[in-house]
Amino acid sequence: MSQAIESTLNESRVFPPVPAAQLKFSRWQVSSLEQYREMHKRSLEDPEGFWGEAAAVLRWAREWDKVLEWKAPDAKWFGGGQINACYNCVDRHVEDGHGEEVGIIWEGEPMSRRTGHPATGSHYAPMHELRWLRYREIQRETARLGNALKGMGVKKGDVVTIYMPMVPELVIAVLACARIGAAHSVIFGGFAPHAIVERVTDASSKVIITADGGFRKGEVIELKKNVDEACEVLATTPNKVRNVVVLQRTGARVEWRPGRDVWWHDAVEGASDHCPCEPMDAEDMLFLLYTSGSTGKPKGIVHTTAGYLVYTNLTARVTFNLIPGTGQVFWCTADVGWVTGHSYVIYGIMSNRVPTLMYEGAPNFPGNDRFWDIVARHRVTQLYTAPTAIRTFMKWGDEHPARHDLSSLKVLGTVGEPINPEAWMWYHTHIGGGRCPVVDTYWQTETGGHVITPLPGATPTKPGSCTLPMFGIDAAVVNEAGEEMPRNHGGLLAIRRPWPGMLRGIFGNRERFVQGYWSRLKDPKTGEPYYFSADGARCDPDGYFWVMGRVDDVINVSGHRLGTMEVESALVSHPGVAEAAVVGMPHEIKGTGICAFVTMKPAWMQAQSRTADEALRKELSNHVGHEIGAIARPDQVRFAEALPKTRSGKIMRRLLRDVAAGVEKITQDTTTLEDFSVVARLRGEEE
Ligand code: PRX
Repeated sequence: MSQAIESTLNESRVFPPVPAAQLKFSRWQVSSLEQYREMHKRSLEDPEGFWGEAAAVLRWAREWDKVLEWKAPDAKWFGGGQINACYNCVDRHVEDGHGEEVGIIWEGEPMSRRTGHPATGSHYAPMHELRWLRYREIQRETARLGNALKGMGVKKGDVVTIYMPMVPELVIAVLACARIGAAHSVIFGGFAPHAIVERVTDASSKVIITADGGFRKGEVIELKKNVDEACEVLATTPNKVRNVVVLQRTGARVEWRPGRDVWWHDAVEGASDHCPCEPMDAEDMLFLLYTSGSTGKPKGIVHTTAGYLVYTNLTARVTFNLIPGTGQVFWCTADVGWVTGHSYVIYGIMSNRVPTLMYEGAPNFPGNDRFWDIVARHRVTQLYTAPTAIRTFMKWGDEHPARHDLSSLKVLGTVGEPINPEAWMWYHTHIGGGRCPVVDTYWQTETGGHVITPLPGATPTKPGSCTLPMFGIDAAVVNEAGEEMPRNHGGLLAIRRPWPGMLRGIFGNRERFVQGYWSRLKDPKTGEPYYFSADGARCDPDGYFWVMGRVDDVINVSGHRLGTMEVESALVSHPGVAEAAVVGMPHEIKGTGICAFVTMKPAWMQAQSRTADEALRKELSNHVGHEIGAIARPDQVRFAEALPKTRSGKIMRRLLRDVAAGVEKITQDTTTLEDFSVVARLRGEEE
């Protein structure tokens, strides 16, 4: 952490916000730092008034009685109120006369015409596959799928699992669940069958919506096959899957289980397009989203309806300067499988009636300029992506964005991990042409939406800092005793009071919720618990936050959150592995890479006549990919005779991190096996 502090301490560049005259402002836009400070102050002093006004932007089935009831760690926002999220993202716009406006713009992978993709054989025409979906159509499709799901026995409160490629039907599936009051649990399409089993079981989900496949870099990703594999395992458990709804996307051949499997098009055929939006109690669950923590098992973060919707609606509007009906096109490049996609592909953007662009495929197929081609053709006004992508673009070269007209861009956003000042500057210069504010948004799956971020018309920015807290967010850098750290001193990032978008729990695990977030930090005077983010940060003399990264066993690989224990569990499930320790290591593109230290079972090695060689490294790496998904594949597998442990038997992770980073050289380094005994002895029990 000290290195990070030093490098960011040297950063002294400041970029002014965009002058008010250059951005169109609505009532909710913030056009000066003073105005931001005033609004922020009010949001903390008068949360009832502030959030009441923010909530009034949406349309309610029944108005709330009380804005907030707080008994730590349980928050009840907008109690007594009833609202439907799908209604506010879709039907409301139709009722207001905007049914013919485009709600979703979709870019399929080029050359992925169902009949002519290289992956499905035959000839293909190099063409873009595009769809524009109007609110009226989205309303009809969510209604039809909603009715189809009801027909399969899905009831209010049930959890529907969604495992789909980035096609508009993914958004329709999400909104159809919200429409009928079922909670959705979206699983990122890159996860392996085992991950599906874990999540479906934990959520007691009985219906899965998937597709025959999705296109990525000219290949078909076989989603249905993964679901089949997962269902096979689930069939041996009490949580059998009743129905699998399959969207035909690629035309690839799929195995079929009659009775269980239903084609999407068959399910909605004949389904009525009248399906009223279920009025949901404010605190009814809207969705579950599984994310990594410090144990081997991912946790199901629970978000509820009203608070989440109000929070994503407001944060999307003020952070990205969204104004409906002004020709804006918002593009968040994240997959809907992550929280960024939930909040800023779907709920935050659609509830503001600004068209949301989604794309299928990869940034480097068919060419390294895919993003810039999309920005130029659609006249994208706000682009929201991850530092890891920006670093990759830098590596690919300036000529790719330079070839395209990026003049439509007004606001650039980043999310997922700390952005290094070099990448910030490149984004600002080469993508934003020096004229677009860069909003470095800090938040988490648990926070629902942005909690620390610049506002484009108000906040002077500093490359590498996520700047100042969102309205309603009382963020602070504190020590273990909950005392605020002096400026420029590193500490733990806490949020000292509730906000509408905060998680309401971990599904089925109250203990983990209380322990993980609400037990470590508290107000030194009153003992009132603070929300613990598990991130380290510092605050500079201007009150700007600089997030340094996780202080728990979670690593951020290309902006994707992974638990080191999850990767370790996957490794030790290999028959030859005796023990494994996984740590993060600095990685030029990914931010953090995965380094796995592994000790093999001598008996297995002997019986299989194996040596600790490159082939074995590859095998272990593939094994992790097979167990969790490609994103979890270690960048480095290092064999060790034994893992370094303290006398009490704890793995010396700090030592391993230093070795992985090359900070600490281990002695007696042989070509294949690492021997930590000397360093470990020198370090003694310090971990
Ligand atoms: O470490 C922080 C990092 O990503 C973590 C949250 O990951 P996840 O729940 O997957 O959500 C990612 C998208 C919201 C945080 O604990 N993180 C996220 N955004 C930033 C960040 N670190 C620094 N700066 C950011 N802007």
